Amino acid sequence: MNNLVLKNLQVLISEEDLQKRVKELAEQINKDYEGQEITLVSVLKGSVVFASDLIRHIKVPVQLEFIRLSSYGNDMRSSGKVKAIDLTLPNLSGKNVIVVEDIIDTGTTAHFLLSYFKLQHKLENVKFATLLNKECARVRPVDVAYSGFVIEDYFVVGYGLDYGGYYRNLPYVGYFS
Ligand code: IMP
Ligand code: MG
Repeated sequence: MNNLVLKNLQVLISEEDLQKRVKELAEQINKDYEGQEITLVSVLKGSVVFASDLIRHIKVPVQLEFIRLSSYGNDMRSSGKVKAIDLTLPNLSGKNVIVVEDIIDTGTTAHFLLSYFKLQHKLENVKFATLLNKECARVRPVDVAYSGFVIEDYFVVGYGLDYGGYYRNLPYVGYFS
């Protein structure tokens, strides 16, 4: 753990701002899917905190599923490759699927998921709900239906996001200075 403590950790998005914005995103989803059912697919591990806060504000009938991917390893840069660790899901064809992500960075993971849902579940219209959106780091464009905060090219931790497996427990989003 010692070599993972990098200088000062600064707050980028406070706990209060996170909670407020998550509620707003849920309200938008409730409005868009009024009278329908949705399936949230949370991408582990990073989105678990966001997904668990988000789902508690959802008012339409909702099912929660998980898949597990890995893209960064222990690095601060996206590897450009997506490793599927567990893609076990029930049959989702015909469902309104919203993929819940902690952060969309280069867009590699999002594109991997779009082709996965298209090929394996015959879904052409999967939406993304991401807490953080590093638009400036995009290598491949992604259409993000629900975007919490657009951030600059910081490496961030907290509220589910990790560095080397640590810091997911922070109630705020921080960066190292
Ligand atoms: P992408 O495939 O480059 O869009 O990266 C997506 C994944 O990389 C995210 O789901 C995160 O797990 C991880 N990631 C990207 N940026 C950060 C960051 O600033 N902090 C921690 N993890 C990150
Ligand atoms: Mg992730």
